[in-house]
Amino acid sequence: MNKIKKDFLWGASTSAYQVEGSIFEGGKVASVMDDIHKSPGYSKEITNFHDATGHYENWKEDVKLFAEMGMKSYRFSISWPRIMKNVKGEINEEGIKFYDDLINELIKYKIEPIVTIFHFDFPNFIDEAGGLTDKRFANLFEDYCKVLFKAYGSKIKYWLTINELNMFAMAASAIGLMPNGKKLNRWEVIHILNLAQARAINLCHKILPKAKIGPAPNISSVYSNSSKPIDYTAKLNMDIVRNWVYLDIVCKGYYSPVFLEFIKKIKEDFVIDPKDMEIIKQAKPDFIAFNYYATMTVEMPKSNEISQEAKDQQKGFTIPGFTSSVKNKNLEKTQFGWEIDPQGFKNTLREVYDRYNLPIMITENGLGAKDILTKQGEVHDTYRIEYYQKHISKMLEAIEEGVDIIGYMPWSAIDLISTHEGVSKRYGFIYVNRDEFDLKDMKRYKKDSFYWYKELIKTNGGSI
Ligand code: BG6
Repeated sequence: MNKIKKDFLWGASTSAYQVEGSIFEGGKVASVMDDIHKSPGYSKEITNFHDATGHYENWKEDVKLFAEMGMKSYRFSISWPRIMKNVKGEINEEGIKFYDDLINELIKYKIEPIVTIFHFDFPNFIDEAGGLTDKRFANLFEDYCKVLFKAYGSKIKYWLTINELNMFAMAASAIGLMPNGKKLNRWEVIHILNLAQARAINLCHKILPKAKIGPAPNISSVYSNSSKPIDYTAKLNMDIVRNWVYLDIVCKGYYSPVFLEFIKKIKEDFVIDPKDMEIIKQAKPDFIAFNYYATMTVEMPKSNEISQEAKDQQKGFTIPGFTSSVKNKNLEKTQFGWEIDPQGFKNTLREVYDRYNLPIMITENGLGAKDILTKQGEVHDTYRIEYYQKHISKMLEAIEEGVDIIGYMPWSAIDLISTHEGVSKRYGFIYVNRDEFDLKDMKRYKKDSFYWYKELIKTNGGSI
């Protein structure tokens, strides 16, 4: 325990479109998330993102609660459609002010603001500029970054580029990232995002030499379902497309030749302009942030298996002849069917650190559950406390064993709307009183986990 540093960034996370609501307020332009509930795969049983959990209205009260919990850092995203008005680069000053006020309030309480530049909610005007497979996306992203760096550069020490860039390839349709039902070449999208990310890193280093910037993918160790050598090959294959492609490109500046051969084989190849690679090679992150929920277990698919898309970020998929995910019989599951693997958290931390040797920040980890608010205004979420207790213990073991971890910001600081399973899948330390379709009073209640985490932060992990 003594290896945990005094300035360890204990905190929690959210993302703009999942907490803010007020989508027609403050000069925000339309984003892909505003109408996502109209897409064919979106369940009619769950809410949209229009009101979310009212953070845009209640941000001051929320920050006060974060401070009461003792949070030393808060990882939130800035909403691109609140900042940029159009492809011409016009700025929405009201949006700039909203985040400036939020950042100032956090600093007032000595909470380190950690900014995700882009967390899934890109503006609809991106389509006007060719969409996600057009290089103009990278130009627009850089313009947006320039505005943020200029507006908040003196106050923000840690920047995160793109949340879960890898999910644009792994679970894009499930979480609404491929707009208007378009069928895009996902690897082309990934390359454009990698380019955009590299440009953000280079720009940050150029104009904010004291700031630190890193990627924030969703990473997890992959297990082979058996000791059959062929299943280990499937594990290596999954590792490439699920984890390493996205970290190799940003940390080492290259696409693995095995990956390039693989996408040629499945005819989803993309053109690599050598000029892009020059930009990508220059961009060196200062740390790696990643989100961890659970590991993945795989085997080599049977010869007649057909391709299957992932149903969400944690559920698996099949690529014929390459890899196929299966259930791990050794692991328990959450109410929403996500496997729970604290030891896997430690394994993942060790793997990432061994491979890239950069400080690590955990930007998401947590349990989605159907919490119940009692008549006394309490939420007895012992299952969440147990989840955190196990995961944090394993993270502390990883630190003891030499992994350099600088912060832990679980998901989520306060209840929010899940990417595709509504508000009933709650993650927060703070309960927000609303249901899927009844907005009630949006009142905030501290869950039992709030008090548990407060003590943990106060003792710098000692009370675990
Ligand atoms: C991560 C995302 O994939 O997982 C978050 O970065 C998301 O935006 C979180 O909310 C939990 O997933 P879900 O689907 O339960 O909301």
